[in-house]
Amino acid sequence: MAKPKKRYVCQACGAVSHRWQGQCADCSEWNTLVEEAPTTVFSMKHDLSGGGRRLQFASLSEAVEPPKRATTGLKEFDRALGGGLVLGAAILIGGDPGIGKSTLLLQTAGAVATRGQDVVYVSGEEAAAQVRLRAERLGLANAPVRLASSTNVRDILTTLAAGDAPDLLIVDSIQTMYSDTIEGAPGTVSQVRGCAFELIRYAKESGTALVLVGHVTKDGNIAGPRVLEHMVDVVMSFEGERSHQYRILRALKNRFGAVDEIGVFAMATEGLEEVENPSMLFLSGRDAPLAGSAVFPAMEGTRPVLVEIQALIVRLQSGATPRRAVVGWDNGRLAMLLAVLESRCGLNFSAAEVYLNVAGGYRLADPAADLAVAAALVSALADKPLPDGSVWFGEVSLAGEIRPVAHSALRLREGAKLGFSSAYGPLKEEKASPGIQFAGIRQLAQLVDRVMR
Ligand code: TYD
Ligand code: MG
Repeated sequence: MAKPKKRYVCQACGAVSHRWQGQCADCSEWNTLVEEAPTTVFSMKHDLSGGGRRLQFASLSEAVEPPKRATTGLKEFDRALGGGLVLGAAILIGGDPGIGKSTLLLQTAGAVATRGQDVVYVSGEEAAAQVRLRAERLGLANAPVRLASSTNVRDILTTLAAGDAPDLLIVDSIQTMYSDTIEGAPGTVSQVRGCAFELIRYAKESGTALVLVGHVTKDGNIAGPRVLEHMVDVVMSFEGERSHQYRILRALKNRFGAVDEIGVFAMATEGLEEVENPSMLFLSGRDAPLAGSAVFPAMEGTRPVLVEIQALIVRLQSGATPRRAVVGWDNGRLAMLLAVLESRCGLNFSAAEVYLNVAGGYRLADPAADLAVAAALVSALADKPLPDGSVWFGEVSLAGEIRPVAHSALRLREGAKLGFSSAYGPLKEEKASPGIQFAGIRQLAQLVDRVMR
């Protein structure tokens, strides 16, 4: 038999190479290739038509029960999950260090246990005393959570197998877990994958909901293996700026529900508080209207959130290449919008630096932000504030037309609710909305006229 080839696995992206290299050919990270045990491949040369078990095919139309869910008691968490924990589901929560993952999960554990369900919290990162200290601070010292500090998956599974399966199992973090049946140090791709596989298998067999904490690399992926994202049912990310107090729990993948709902929390001294009405959270404290600032009613799932978009234009004296810097929005989208403003509206940004910031550290993904960004840019260029108390939404096409967007009625209602008096959006959306004046804009040039006038 041929000698098995050596395998080098990139610890950042999971790519396999047969030769050691300083840089991974797939993800270009340096020094991430680590030799791993070769996989055994049995010869598949002969036919596969004997020896297997026969499968029973079913039809798609058979009656299905909706997955059994249990609410956690943390409304924002349930909302992000699409209506609570699904029994037997595996959930991966990623996020930057120190963002509050352990706090969120300890609070979840406390809330679920207080409701009379059996919760096991395994920390591989902190000693039991540390977790207890945190629980005390969160006012959860008396919650009947079963707590353990361990990194050994075999120990964890042996312990769980000896008693009744818990309703909820939390493992903080999967990168610290270790299985003695797998080669490699904790945190390597094969260990992370193997440990996750064992834990997920236990969850599926026992009907326990499993929550895994995953570390995040500097480019925002769950550390090491993307494979982990394929293995679990739900992938969530816990985001926020550490210098700001709010945190957003966002589902990136959900086999049991939609992925557009978010949970909003604020980090306080007594832990995470739920923010049920996040609409005002991202507006900066504004008194007088400022040039270069536009308010955008964004949609997060079914909830509107008002965010402020700030633009700054700096005219350059010299012939240096002007900078374009964006925080909280897409770079390419800004370039497109600037190009449309230049070619369709005759504005000139080419000799100016353009800075765009979404206030409060919020990250915009809603395509309806185009018009608000354009309004902020034009207002900054003209050095004239937009009309006081106005909100802006609509998608801008390459031809400079303002295109209709989803949920305009909700956006208008939210603006009115928070005391905004006028809204500008796609012409089609012109319908009466109580408490807020709507002005339809057909072309970007009309916006420029309106602001420059
Ligand atoms: P933690 O949950 O340990 O983050 P992670 O598990 O994602 O690494 O959160 C740590 C941060 O949260 C820490 O910097 C302090 C802050 N914090 C509070 O502000 N209030 C609290 O009640 C708690 C428990 C933590
Ligand atoms: Mg932690």
